[in-house]
Formats: sequence, C-alpha cells, structure tokens
Amino acid sequence: MIHLGVNIDHVATLRQARYRGAGAVQVGSGSAEVGEPDPVRAAHEAELGGADSITFHLREDRRHINDHDVRLLRRVARVKLNLEMAPTDEMVSIACELRPHTAMLVPEGREEVTTEGGLDVAGQLPRMKEVVARLRGAGLIVSAFIDAERRQVDACAEAGFDVCEVHTGPWSAVFAVCGGDMRRPELEREWQRIMRAGVEITDAGMRFNAGHGLNYHNVIPFTSVSRLEELHIGHAIVSRAVYVGLRRAVREMKQILMRSEGIGRVYDDGGLDDGTGGAA
Ligand code: PXP
Repeated sequence: MIHLGVNIDHVATLRQARYRGAGAVQVGSGSAEVGEPDPVRAAHEAELGGADSITFHLREDRRHINDHDVRLLRRVARVKLNLEMAPTDEMVSIACELRPHTAMLVPEGREEVTTEGGLDVAGQLPRMKEVVARLRGAGLIVSAFIDAERRQVDACAEAGFDVCEVHTGPWSAVFAVCGGDMRRPELEREWQRIMRAGVEITDAGMRFNAGHGLNYHNVIPFTSVSRLEELHIGHAIVSRAVYVGLRRAVREMKQILMRSEGIGRVYDDGGLDDGTGGAA
C-alpha cells in the first residue's frame, strides 16, 4: 500500500498570516501565548486521520514552521517525521541533532511561494555527497526532491541517496489543463516521464516517492503504481480541511490510496467511515 505523508507547512502559513513575528502578547503585567492554528496539533489530527508520516519544511527564513514547532513535533509525533530542508550547513546540523526519520533535501528560493523545482543534484554532486554522508552518518534516511530526469536519478544514486521524491508539479498542471483526460498526449507524456523515473529509481536500488501539487483527483492514477512507496501531499489536504476538518480530509485521501479508487467511489459506498462505526 502506498503511504501518505501529510505536509503541515500550510497550517503554519495560516498561523503566520495573522501572527507573523508574534509568539506571546503582553498587556500590562499579563502575557499569553498566541498563534493558531497550531501545526503540532495539526500533526496529531493528521495522525488520527491515518497519515503514515508528517512532513514539515524548516525554511532558512522560518516563514512558516519555526524552531519551536520542530522541537515540539519531535517530542509528540507518533509516526515518521520528514524534515524538508535546504542542503545548507545550518539545516544539516539541525537535522543531525533533531534526528527525524527522513531528511528530504529540496532547493530553496527566498522569493518562491512553495518549492518550485527539483534539486539539481547532478549540478552539485561533490556537495551532495558530503551532505548525504553527514545525514546518513547521523542515522537518517536521506531523500532528494528531483525532477523526473535520468541524469538527476543517476546523480542521486551516485551521491548515496536512499530515496528520490519525484516532483509531480508539472503533472498536476498538465492534468488540470487536460481535465484529467489521459488520452491527451501531453498528459500521457508527463505520466510516462514520471513512471520512467520511478523505474530508474527503483532499478538503482532507491525508494520511489512522489509529491507536489497532488489533489483528490490527480492522485488517482498513482494509486496503482506498485513501485511507489509514499506520496507527500499538503495543500489539497489542508484546503479540504477547511470544510471537513483535517482528520477527515486526511482520511479521505488515505481511503483513496487504500482503495485505489477515486473519491467519487468513496462517497458512492455510502459515505466515508468517520471512525465512529457509522458512515459520515
Ligand atoms: N514535496 C515537496 C518536496 C514539497 O516541497 C511540497 C510542498 O511543500 C510537497 C511535497 C507537497 O506539495 P503540496 O503542498 O502541493 O501538496
């Protein structure tokens, strides 16, 4: 079964929209901690919804997840933790001290709203080898977020990565334009690119993960890919949570992955099992 990693950065982004730079307010002699929604509580809800892992990105500028969140998450999380990070010395030190299950290396741009492209492992192989060795030396599984390109897969194998997460952002964009019609050649081409990369990754002895831009519809073709180990999904799940709550939003995605069928089918079955014994 394909595992579901839930990215909780978007919860912290919502908190920062109101409480940027705040943490505590002081009025006279009184003070109080402020700032909701709390991404650590969100991680707990995601776990209860069936998340197999929790992903969070500690950015250099701490624009959403902060150091306090990270320390608290490490203490309370009960499933695998994936620390998404730029391959900088500061982040490598934090990862070695924090010891999440997986260190996921991504490129980081200050101006970007979200991670925009894959990490250029091929273009900085000596640095990547050094970073991977340090992280693996601390007992971490090390993953690279890459575009679906042969030269990046080969470079990841050479650098010693355990996992490649293939960037599905381009797939998501083409899927939207084509309305999910797999007979459209541009969508078929994008699909084949990802599948080819998946074969190359597993043939090279690494684990094949994927993510970015996935939602309750464009995720469906992935559910029948046996080489795939884990999908990382954030924005679509947190967006759905606005209407149905995070626990249920995660459970719906999890049910799609478990049933290898679409969300329509999940509802056709008489509604989602809300965990209380009855259909929700
Ligand atoms: N994988 C990586 C490496 C990411 O940077 C992100 C976004 O933070 C995701 C997966 C999840 O993407 P989305 O929020 O679009 O589901």
